[in-house]
Amino acid sequence: MAVLMAELLKAARLASRSAYCPYSKFHVGAAVLAGGRIFTGANVENASYGLTICAERTAIFAAILAGEVAIDALALACVDAPTDAEPGLLMPCGACRQVLAEFARPETPIAVDCAGTYTLGELLPLTFRLRGATGR
Ligand code: THU
Repeated sequence: MAVLMAELLKAARLASRSAYCPYSKFHVGAAVLAGGRIFTGANVENASYGLTICAERTAIFAAILAGEVAIDALALACVDAPTDAEPGLLMPCGACRQVLAEFARPETPIAVDCAGTYTLGELLPLTFRLRGATGR
């Protein structure tokens, strides 16, 4: 799994180059493993700031739109954060944690570049759910 997470992190860093972030200038890349395939995403901002979508969600939605039903791992890279950044500048936002919870399990690993690997359960305990299982 460690090799796989390293590969996912590499894909996330590469994906950050596709970010559209003229307002924050904060490039973020994400990669998810789903059905044995890697899907990537990056943040896409908007002049109406609230319409911005995060890297994690573009990657998750790419996997779901490709027909996958479950996310097995996610990696996130905030490549513009300074090397001595506080962990908070590197972590996935709350909205993306909730979106991930729709398709992943509490044990699902989340690799955060320069901050370590966590499970979804650690990052989002007591998750709101309308259904018990992931999948369609
Ligand atoms: N951003 C992400 O892509 N993922 C997160 O989890 C946190 C924030 C993006 C959104 C925005 O384009 C920029 O980072 C600054 O907030």
